[in-house]
Amino acid sequence: MTNAEPPPANPNPPPRQPPPQDLRIAPLSNPAAPRSRGTQPPWVAVTGAGGSFGRALLRRWHARGAQLIALTSGDVPLDLVDGKGHPIPLRHVRWRVGEEQELAALLAEVDVLVLNHGVNVHTARDRAAVECSLEVNALSSWRLLELFATVVGNRRNAVGAEAPGSSARPLPEVWLNTSEAEIQLAVSPLYEISKRLVGQLLSLRALDLAGAAGGPLRLRRLVLGPFRSSLNPIGLMDADWVAGEVMRQALDWNCGLVIVTPNPLTYLLMPLATLSRWAYFRLTTRASGP
Ligand SMILES: NC(=O)c1ccc[n+]([C@@H]2O[C@H](COP(=O)([O-])OP(=O)(O)OC[C@H]3O[C@@H](n4cnc5c(N)ncnc54)[C@H](OP(=O)(O)O)[C@@H]3O)[C@@H](O)[C@H]2O)c1
Repeated sequence: MTNAEPPPANPNPPPRQPPPQDLRIAPLSNPAAPRSRGTQPPWVAVTGAGGSFGRALLRRWHARGAQLIALTSGDVPLDLVDGKGHPIPLRHVRWRVGEEQELAALLAEVDVLVLNHGVNVHTARDRAAVECSLEVNALSSWRLLELFATVVGNRRNAVGAEAPGSSARPLPEVWLNTSEAEIQLAVSPLYEISKRLVGQLLSLRALDLAGAAGGPLRLRRLVLGPFRSSLNPIGLMDADWVAGEVMRQALDWNCGLVIVTPNPLTYLLMPLATLSRWAYFRLTTRASGP
């Protein structure tokens, strides 16, 4: 299930990452303890950390001074290096789709949760392919989103209400990597169906979750066009470049809807889609609980 390692204390000379059997979850700190904004870098957890975009995003977050948690379904710990070839300190945590609840203790220490894992079954349409696509691309991300909102709410209750603008740990955020397959063809029906589902669930639940965690929970939607990875070997863009653009839009421009694609239609249609969903879901549903 979940394993972790503490980051190495001194990256110079570069230490080797310990083998996977040494990985353990160790508490980073008292999760309920307030942290001073600006004095403590955020803890950022990224799912699908072993994939092309996950690795690229972790490198970018490292360059911004974040402390990193790599959430991976793989057994091999990541060996990430920065631009100078120095190893990037990471906590590795193994998780499985369907076992999201077991990440609750870990999420109590997380400031930014990036839901990035994904799968593309391409031409398959059998029962197993449907189940895999829905579970990996949609339902596990939705469950983690709900879990993180609950954990953040509990964390805030534990430290009491904070005055707006007072010193505190960074505002919690969830970044959800959907895809432009939310609104465009991806020549992979189950990929489109599952990405549309998770995109719509985000729109629906954002109506409650953005304020349900005892304060603001910033939700950012990443809508990316084709980039090269094992999921899409013929993607047009480079994953590292895409990660740089995502960081710029999310952190420098504070965009909630982050779009990186060569397809100009997506820049027009995606804001329209999110706006019309927001209006429709607001009109046709009402808050009935957290
Ligand atoms: N490539 C594109 O053109 C493109 C375009 C738009 C959006 N996206 C989205 O970007 C995200 C990252 O994709 P990528 O292109 O970087 O592909 P990738 O290199 O294949 O990475 C996807 C990662 O998801 C994790 N994953 C796969 N199956 C899983 C499972 N059953 N359970 C848990 N984790 C699983 C794996 O990471 P671990 O081994 O670390 O668990 C895998 O490396 C995906 O959500 C994808 O849909 C990709």
